Amino acid sequence: MNKQIQTAAASASTSTLASKVAFVQGGSRGIGAAIVQRLAAEGVTVAFTYVTSPDKAQALVSRVEAAGGRALAIQADSTDAAALQQAIRLAAETFGRLDILVNNAGVLAIGPIDEFKLEDLDRTLAVNVRSVVVATQAAVRYMGEGGRVISIGSTNADRIPFAGGAVYAMSKSALVGLTKGLARDLGPRGITVNNVQPGPVDTDMNPANSDFAASLTGLMALPRYGKAEEIASFVAYLAGPEAGYITGANLMIDGGFSA
Ligand SMILES: NC(=O)c1ccc[n+]([C@@H]2O[C@H](COP(=O)([O-])OP(=O)(O)OC[C@H]3O[C@@H](n4cnc5c(N)ncnc54)[C@H](OP(=O)(O)O)[C@@H]3O)[C@@H](O)[C@H]2O)c1
Repeated sequence: MNKQIQTAAASASTSTLASKVAFVQGGSRGIGAAIVQRLAAEGVTVAFTYVTSPDKAQALVSRVEAAGGRALAIQADSTDAAALQQAIRLAAETFGRLDILVNNAGVLAIGPIDEFKLEDLDRTLAVNVRSVVVATQAAVRYMGEGGRVISIGSTNADRIPFAGGAVYAMSKSALVGLTKGLARDLGPRGITVNNVQPGPVDTDMNPANSDFAASLTGLMALPRYGKAEEIASFVAYLAGPEAGYITGANLMIDGGFSA
């Protein structure tokens, strides 16, 4: 066993998350990939979906396995309810349980309202909102006491200091109410529901080296983009037993973007 695998195996065996199973919607790149990798390092068996990035998805599975973890990549478009439900069923049946759902898949379409295309409106709502309801409905059937539903919203639900982001902000605001309502539905079953709201994070969706990025960092208390790993570590905390009294919460992790 090489040193890297020994370290991963050691941390997995002492982790409070060891033996749990997670399903991450949209895990092939960016924040989702960091969440898959972090949960796997904590000993969680992670199934995740992808659509357009099969090579990145497979490379992620290989990285997780090389570190001594277990991951399964499933091609399933979150806009296709049947495919998403089937992917969740496959994960739960393959691994015999499901404890954690992370609704990370998301799209960003920016444009002035006069020109905003209706297909972009429909796609934004399908991926950023409808799939969260579909996946939650499918996943909680397998969850018991201690179950976790964690969505990746955005600080833009609270603050949108640039033009063209109205539809994206609307989609992420929808998760605020959805999270509160779901917490009420699922609290009596011991399942917590939370919404993590990142500020700008360096990914393909929002690269830190753009002019847009430069305009945003000037608005932040910490004048820098976040790292995907910084969001993933917060998700891992929410997934664990120490976060068992947090539910219905919309939690900013945004470098002071909304401060
Ligand atoms: N980056 C930021 O600054 C930021 C800030 C706040 C919130 N967020 C939110 O964080 C989440 C992740 O963002 P990111 O920056 O990591 O985005 P990203 O780099 O564009 O990655 C998006 C991920 O979602 C997957 N995905 C997209 N559409 C999908 C669909 N229809 N079905 C299944 N998977 C799909 C992609 O899979 P494929 O590549 O396989 O298609 C990819 O793995 C999103 O919900 C986003 O709104 C991001």
